[in-house]
Amino acid sequence: MPRPILATVHLPALRHNLDRARQCAPDARVWAIVKANAYGHGIERVFDGLRGADGFALLDLAEAERVRALGWRGPILLLEGVFEPRDLELCSRLGLWHAVHRNEQIDWLAAHKTHTPHRVFLKLNSGMNRLGFRPEAFRSAWARLGALPQVEEISLMTHFSDADGPRGIAHQVALFQRAAGDLPGERSLCNSAATLRNAADPLAEGLPLAADWVRPGIMVYGGAPDHPQRTAADWNLQPAMTLASRVIGVQDLAEGETVGYGSTFTAPRTLRIGVVACGYADGYPRHAPGGLETGAPVLVDGVRTRIVGRVSMDMLTVDLTPVPQAGLNSEVVLWGRSASGAVLTIDEVAHAAGTIGYELMCAVTPRVPFGVDAG
Ligand SMILES: Cc1ncc(COP(=O)(O)O)c(C=O)c1O
Repeated sequence: MPRPILATVHLPALRHNLDRARQCAPDARVWAIVKANAYGHGIERVFDGLRGADGFALLDLAEAERVRALGWRGPILLLEGVFEPRDLELCSRLGLWHAVHRNEQIDWLAAHKTHTPHRVFLKLNSGMNRLGFRPEAFRSAWARLGALPQVEEISLMTHFSDADGPRGIAHQVALFQRAAGDLPGERSLCNSAATLRNAADPLAEGLPLAADWVRPGIMVYGGAPDHPQRTAADWNLQPAMTLASRVIGVQDLAEGETVGYGSTFTAPRTLRIGVVACGYADGYPRHAPGGLETGAPVLVDGVRTRIVGRVSMDMLTVDLTPVPQAGLNSEVVLWGRSASGAVLTIDEVAHAAGTIGYELMCAVTPRVPFGVDAG
């Protein structure tokens, strides 16, 4: 019998979350962001759930090839553009659209021999200061691209640094408008946080913020981009991944006994704990705290309890007090949905461990088998 750990990708949740993006931006087309192997879910596994998107955006050319291999004929966007000149051949062959964020990429395009002109997304650095042309260089880049026979259409994009936080996006939107407001072409500005928040509280009447393309990533997978300020339930998002295991051992601790490496947890009273087949070698965060009051949350037989003691490579330990009926083989949901329907969001576990849901979903390790819940 295989080790009882399984990650399940929920296609109905992906469809629901994609619909939520559409509801938030009804006039826009939706890029489903599937970079990092669909945020750790697996491109091939999520494809059926996300095929209702208008396009797939990612950054790895091998991943773009995988999306085409699935039979997808619609748009695919390379969010970081090409990394070297010969990547343009693949763009021509597979009809990939690509971001252009620096001058060398324009040089490469100018030297590229192709029968099919490319659609490009010219990226403005509106304050994130990672990729993109600064406002003063944006127009000349646009003019250079526009003069190339290799370019069929230029769209405009930028990326927000603070869509999920208190600083917000207004300063970047204003800069985008100043730098590019009068240029023709389709626009793509919003990630999940901007898509959700703009729908809930529009920044400015008439501003084409959610047009023409939105780029939701985390929300499609059921994560709240601004947890804990707003939760997945607040945004009406459903978990697209469940990481579940089972209790493979039970210990009855006497008061004063400790559990796990470093004896970091001491039972304050007699305590029944479950030993769960999941550890940091599965992608569960080692720094998740243990403790009766402050431990990272977990669902045992659909009931919320907490981990106690240190997370080790292959196991972690949980307090069974709130679930007296639980025992060997009981279902343990590390994040996602239990058989009973109870939900523990990945955001809560990430928050307890001092990280974000994005990181945890991307970090499930190859030894964890995956299944697909087709609904
Ligand atoms: C350019 C770009 N657009 C959109 C996204 C999606 O962001 P989120 O997952 O926060 O929706 C990302 C992710 O980092 C990105 O890099």
